[in-house]
Amino acid sequence: MNRDILSKIEQEQMISREELEELLTTTDQELIEELYRRARATAGKYYGKEIYLRGLIEFTNYCKNNCYYCGIRCGNEKAQRYRLTMDQILSCCESGWELGFRTFVLQGGEDPYYTDERICTITKEIKKRYPDCAVTLSIGEKERASYQAYFDAGADRYLLRHETADEVHYQKLHPSQMSLAHRKECLRELKEIGYQTGCGFMVGSPGQTLDTLYEDLVFIKELQPEMVGIGPFIPHQDTPFAEEKAGTLEDTLRLLAIIRLIHPMVLLPSTTALGTIHPMGREKGILAGANVVMPNLSPVQVRDKYTLYDNKICTGEEAAECRGCLERRVAAVGYRCVTDRGDSAMCR
Ligand code: SAM
Ligand code: FES
Repeated sequence: MNRDILSKIEQEQMISREELEELLTTTDQELIEELYRRARATAGKYYGKEIYLRGLIEFTNYCKNNCYYCGIRCGNEKAQRYRLTMDQILSCCESGWELGFRTFVLQGGEDPYYTDERICTITKEIKKRYPDCAVTLSIGEKERASYQAYFDAGADRYLLRHETADEVHYQKLHPSQMSLAHRKECLRELKEIGYQTGCGFMVGSPGQTLDTLYEDLVFIKELQPEMVGIGPFIPHQDTPFAEEKAGTLEDTLRLLAIIRLIHPMVLLPSTTALGTIHPMGREKGILAGANVVMPNLSPVQVRDKYTLYDNKICTGEEAAECRGCLERRVAAVGYRCVTDRGDSAMCR
């Protein structure tokens, strides 16, 4: 009977609320192993044994928002703020290019210093120097005209986790100036403009329930994003959620596998947060159907300042060390990191 659940989900590329409950609560280890096996097989159909690399450049930790979960929220007076200059960003790309990265992810808080003009200049310069690379932006909610300008400047992809698709849950995670409706509108605009678009959420964020998770899955099916970023929520000591519990490895792995089955071609990262809650978290993520890893290319002197949550891993390593370490970890579970832009199979 249990195997039937998985076949049905695979066939319909959707899951019911009851099936989600069953898969998240079952203690039947065989069923879970089968879930992971099928998720791996599905990933393998589109991406083989290849794992795509993204070079993550955390270029500013200034943020005008005050999300309750986030260590770089503007209300955290203990955060030591920094911004990278254009030269620093380009030098991260240079070392990344030499290490075989063909996607650069520029991520930061919502920092008004980086005007549209600055973002466009940086994007154009990266694309001019490395025409074969993809640029991903992850800089929050903007006007449609801004998204269009970055796209015209050469940005290929945009990551904007929706955080939760449930209105009440969204309000529990964010101050009242922020709205789920606007977040969703941004995601739809990004898709319309032509970005490979990524949404996503934290697993185990305060207030998350089976129902809110189900809404997340329904939203993913509706939006049809090229990427979905999920990782465990991990508390940060200087935020209102300091005393909350972290999301679990097990829930995150099961959700990764479920997302792979219901949205088969998606680019699915095995996140640093997953590697933070378990020493083998990222390898386990790949074995549950993930096909992307995002090593850090930010200069070592700022690494420990981009602290979204406590005990983040890889804050002391140089880019080359991170790259080498991940390469070995990925190889140890039978996969290989490739030098490729790593576009979504949805774009082929
Ligand atoms: N400002 C951009 C945005 O809002 O999309 C990008 C940066 S934001 C810090 C990137 C992601 O980090 C968020 O979407 C959130 O899901 C995740 N994040 C923030 N705080 C976290 C925490 N305490 N634990 C795990 N993930 C967290
Ligand atoms: Fe802005 Fe976290 S509150 S990046």
